[in-house]
Amino acid sequence: MSDYVMGRTVEEYERLRRQAEVWAPDTARLLDRAGLSPGDRCLDVGCGTGAVMDLMVTRGGRATGIDLDEDLGEKAAAGCGGTFVAANVESDDDAVPAGGFDLVYGRLILLHVADPAAVLRRMWRWVAPGGVLVVQDYDMRAVDSNPPLAVVDEWRRVFLGAYAAAGRDVRLGFRLPTLFAEAGIGAPDGTDVTGRLGTMADSAAMLTATFRSIAPLAIARGLLTEAQRDTWLSEIDTAARVYPEHSSMWPLLLGAVKRRPA
Ligand SMILES: C[S@@+](CC[C@H](N)C(=O)[O-])C[C@H]1O[C@@H](n2cnc3c(N)ncnc32)[C@H](O)[C@@H]1O
Repeated sequence: MSDYVMGRTVEEYERLRRQAEVWAPDTARLLDRAGLSPGDRCLDVGCGTGAVMDLMVTRGGRATGIDLDEDLGEKAAAGCGGTFVAANVESDDDAVPAGGFDLVYGRLILLHVADPAAVLRRMWRWVAPGGVLVVQDYDMRAVDSNPPLAVVDEWRRVFLGAYAAAGRDVRLGFRLPTLFAEAGIGAPDGTDVTGRLGTMADSAAMLTATFRSIAPLAIARGLLTEAQRDTWLSEIDTAARVYPEHSSMWPLLLGAVKRRPA
């Protein structure tokens, strides 16, 4: 399996489920705006736990998920009555039929591949004439607190540093229009900006879960020691108790939509 930077642990799968609950209304809004209709053939690229396949099926779509992670994908498809294809979207052009889908969607997948423009080009090939491509991905630079907190600054140093060390771009969502151009798709028909502004009380769990998932990679890359990890985990608990009302910004979830001419 590819080097998924967040690791393949039970805790990471649980984190993905909780993250998907947070963004579900915003992704649903974007799918509706893209015109998802009953009977549409829908493809979720990098489907993970299948949260977006659920949204597709709820709207009457016929959902297919693709993921490298066969166990996770099989369970996702079984849970929503969809279909699953185990494939590597970085290399497998023929995982699904060219022009086979009315909606091709991908959330937080381009962030995890070495050549996002190549994957976008592949996804565009899978869109049927008259169908639509929709992607959503993060700009993680947005993560911050106000007033500033050292524990959030340290999250940024470790998390953003580990992604960069692994050759992943933490601004991926921001680059979507450029990537569409590089992929030969042309400028998006529309874009979407979603954020979440909360408090330390309700963001500490997200910061903790993401830190725990990235810690093994950060340690392997020499950005973090086990002792520093344990200190940080204790400091985030303290920060949530002592500064529960401090403003806390999540990553921005940025989207782009393009319809293929009929
Ligand atoms: C951050 S998760 C996002 C899951 C889901 N799209 C969501 O938003 O809840 C990224 C998913 O992409 C999958 N993935 C990463 N690289 C992949 C690749 N090259 N081919 C197929 N799936 C891949 C991972 O296994 C993981 O399930």
